[in-house]
Amino acid sequence: MSQLRLAVLPGDGIGPEVTGAALRVLGHCLVGSGVELSCSEHLIGGAALERSGEPLPTATLEAARGADAVLLGAVGGPVWESAPVRPEAGLLGLRSGLGVFANLRPVRVWPGLAARSPLRAELLEGVDVLFIRELTGGVYFGRPQGISGKPPQRRAVDTSDYGELEIERVAELAFRSARQRRHRVTSVDKANVLATSRLWRQVVSETAREYPDVGLEHCLVDSFALRLLLQPRDFDVVLTENLFGDILTDEAAALTGSLGVLPSASGGGAGPWLYEPVHGSAPDLAGRGLANPLGAIASVGLLLEHTLGRRELAETLQRALGEVVREGPVTPDLGGTASTDQVTEAVISRLPSGVAA
Ligand code: IPM
Ligand code: MG
Repeated sequence: MSQLRLAVLPGDGIGPEVTGAALRVLGHCLVGSGVELSCSEHLIGGAALERSGEPLPTATLEAARGADAVLLGAVGGPVWESAPVRPEAGLLGLRSGLGVFANLRPVRVWPGLAARSPLRAELLEGVDVLFIRELTGGVYFGRPQGISGKPPQRRAVDTSDYGELEIERVAELAFRSARQRRHRVTSVDKANVLATSRLWRQVVSETAREYPDVGLEHCLVDSFALRLLLQPRDFDVVLTENLFGDILTDEAAALTGSLGVLPSASGGGAGPWLYEPVHGSAPDLAGRGLANPLGAIASVGLLLEHTLGRRELAETLQRALGEVVREGPVTPDLGGTASTDQVTEAVISRLPSGVAA
């Protein structure tokens, strides 16, 4: 019997609802697997600010570092919009404190959901893109950063900063991932304007020499944003820096019909991986039992694959998710009327343990 020690960080808004759903599903996936699950829950984001005055209490970061994997819900909300320290700082601190420099965001269009997308169904058939977003560098973390001066002389500065080793390690992960897929990497930058992007392009090209079996193309971010809508099937692995990755993965979510279905996994360092749905805290939905749990549940699928190395369990879960999306019930963001619980139950009932246990 092996053990999975999971640190659960529900956070704000719909975070607690979707992590609760994801945990129930994970429990069912592990029945009969020989893996014993133990969970501990910790504060992050606005919830942590309220209780401790900090968005990432030391105890949370320590628990996350000591776990085998971390499951996070969401952080942020309008209550903290003008707080001196924002809940989002907790998430950024967690990502950098865990050293999870590569954020994997697979985007697949489920059959049955194509009609939910604003794009024509024939453009979407077979779309299967793995975004790999650099997660611990760039303008999110560069210093100096801040607003100074008094009106009308106020100024603001952000700093984008990348070292070549930071680029190389995430590029390597992208090329290795492409080898498990269709052997193509599209690297997205703004090399016609930004120095960080010019270095990005050089280092990615240099790294590519070690992977002659993987095709590499460079694409400027503005043109990529357009191509993603015109020919989304063109892409296999898309590698990009932190800020571009944040923006482009929300754009990519439109292809799938709802941001609510997208999962993510972050890792690359020696420590535990971090799993979180791509959607945010959705304060308007919080506490109503209507949040779409599929993004968090699909993140559990990534955990089964990356932390536990149990691809067969991940595939069983993926099949169950596919059936629920096709046959329902689904939440209002996907055009249904079901609650978070009803969708979660439907997923569980399609797992082998949901029938047998
Ligand atoms: C995401 C989110 C975060 C980000 C926010 C909540 C800080 O938008 O994970 O995509 O910008 O990285
Ligand atoms: Mg985002």
